[in-house]
Amino acid sequence: MSKKNILNAPLPRHIGIIMDGNGRWAKKYLMKREVGHRSGAQALKRLVKAMTADGFECLTVYAFSTENWKRDEAEVRYLMSLIHEYIQQYIDEAKKDNNRIRVIGDTSALKEGLRDKIEHLEELTQNNDGMLLNIAINYGGRDEIVRAASHLAKNGIDITESGIESHLDTAHAPPLDLVIRTSGEMRLSNFLLWQAAYAELYCTDVLWPDFKISHLYDAVAQFQKRDRRFGGR
Ligand code: FPP
Repeated sequence: MSKKNILNAPLPRHIGIIMDGNGRWAKKYLMKREVGHRSGAQALKRLVKAMTADGFECLTVYAFSTENWKRDEAEVRYLMSLIHEYIQQYIDEAKKDNNRIRVIGDTSALKEGLRDKIEHLEELTQNNDGMLLNIAINYGGRDEIVRAASHLAKNGIDITESGIESHLDTAHAPPLDLVIRTSGEMRLSNFLLWQAAYAELYCTDVLWPDFKISHLYDAVAQFQKRDRRFGGR
């Protein structure tokens, strides 16, 4: 499928990506896991630029899950400092990139310095009209649903589907259409559980640091061929 055909047909409004395989990519090239994560962060930056240029509406990426704290302490420290470094880069380039950037997840567990940067980035980009980029940090789909339901319960509001939905971290985003997972794994791993109820799934063997816009076009081409019935006939 050529790029032109894809861009002329309806695009998924909201794409979620589970960026998996940084560690295996590093191993393949006999490098440290840290190098894999850094290459993964660069791959994300390139993809965001290309998707924005193509007019995609919204991308949500899984940068750090509520379960990732269980990793080796040094790896957690490295991932957090890498995320901090890239949040700063997104701040520096906010005007030029024109993307609206939001962080989803429970940010209360993050270091104060990182939380301040995130707040600054969100404020700085809130009126941008390029692609909406949601970065999931300390994010878990189950945790998100519990937080939304607790909010309703605490405020004496009936727990309904629309009530929960309007208190999810993605309440500001269009409905999720497509979830992509790299590196050959085929599971959601607690990513956008509620939102993925009727999203299309696409898995590829490509390791995240090697993922390019051409791979995204492959996923979108598949999406455009699917018959979505949302439970109806
Ligand atoms: C999974 O690969 C990847 C992660 C847990 C981290 C994802 C983070 C990035 C792509 C970079 C940082 C993001 C931003 C926003 C700057 P893995 O380590 O589980 O790989 P493996 O399964 O091959 O070991």
